[in-house]
Amino acid sequence: MQKRILVTGGAGFLGSHLCERLVAAGHEVLCVDNFFTGTRRNIAHLLDDRRFELLRHDITFPLYVEVDEIYNLACPASPIHYQFDPVQTTKTSVMGVINMLGLAKRVKAKFLQASTSEVYGDPSVHPQPEEYWGNVNPIGFRSCYDEGKRCAETLVFDYIRQHRMPAKVVRIFNTYGPRMHPSDGRVVSNFVVQALGGKDITLYGDGSQTRSFCYVDDLIEAMVRMMGTGPETTGPINIGNPTEFSIRELGELVLELTGSKSKLIFEPLPSDDPKQRQPDIRKARELLGWEPEIALPVGLKKTIDYFDDLLRRGDGPHPVGASRSN
Ligand SMILES: NC(=O)c1ccc[n+]([C@@H]2O[C@H](COP(=O)([O-])OP(=O)(O)OC[C@H]3O[C@@H](n4cnc5c(N)ncnc54)[C@H](O)[C@@H]3O)[C@@H](O)[C@H]2O)c1
Repeated sequence: MQKRILVTGGAGFLGSHLCERLVAAGHEVLCVDNFFTGTRRNIAHLLDDRRFELLRHDITFPLYVEVDEIYNLACPASPIHYQFDPVQTTKTSVMGVINMLGLAKRVKAKFLQASTSEVYGDPSVHPQPEEYWGNVNPIGFRSCYDEGKRCAETLVFDYIRQHRMPAKVVRIFNTYGPRMHPSDGRVVSNFVVQALGGKDITLYGDGSQTRSFCYVDDLIEAMVRMMGTGPETTGPINIGNPTEFSIRELGELVLELTGSKSKLIFEPLPSDDPKQRQPDIRKARELLGWEPEIALPVGLKKTIDYFDDLLRRGDGPHPVGASRSN
């Protein structure tokens, strides 16, 4: 059945893939974005499709549209971007989710919130199951994002309890792929852009800290399956790839796949940087019948091809857009 679906943050990395996927499935998609970190380039190929509509709007302000489903992805996701204007980051998570949940309530839409593994902070439990409450610093540089997302989860569950709304939360772990922002400072884009530009690859600490990397297509599949579940399935549910790699292994793989002559160099670890992060995805397996399928070398190759093309077109790293707190 064709639905009318709102995707906030739809011009961003994940949002653009989600819009593409939903349009391809025959739905009408309304992409809402303030272009803080997202770009028109990410959705340029959808603009001529009559099922796709773009609206420049900041979700910290109310919005009224008739839709059947809302995927709330709007929020800068990388530390460089969310720390650029931390007050706006918290507003986007908290006021943004209040506005979008209010809209979902009024128009009786199904709602899915894009939360994050950062709600676990620097975890003392490994891998992290959904029942783990996290270890988060409430006053640090990452708090605008971590605590904003935690509060957004609280709001989703209060709306579910108080208003009996069909809402859901997915906790996304490190995801990578084409259309990542080239200057987002995230490890995959950093390494790939550095290697393609012939610059040394910067590792923080000794590179032994581990991360798990999920390819974007796997993540989008899980999000769509989650939205398709009944009201009893609320989450929060971890979505990510549990296969762990050390940051050093990732650096070596990027060098191998790009054929770059760059070297690995080491710099001090930033504060609050988690040492380990790995999703426990038993719930996603059981409730969504989902499993990540794309291995790191395969996804990394597609990501490298994307950045290679971007850099050749002279569209390399650049600062983010101009949205500010007020
Ligand atoms: N990529 C990951 O690995 C990852 C991991 C965990 C969680 N997430 C979550 O997934 C969502 C999407 O992340 P992404 O990686 O695509 O990041 P992104 O920065 O590429 O996308 C976020 C989008 O939201 C838009 N935006 C920001 N503030 C807005 C506002 N106030 N109003 C309207 N639009 C706004 C940006 O312009 C951008 O297009 C975020 O909510 C993020 O927290 C992503």
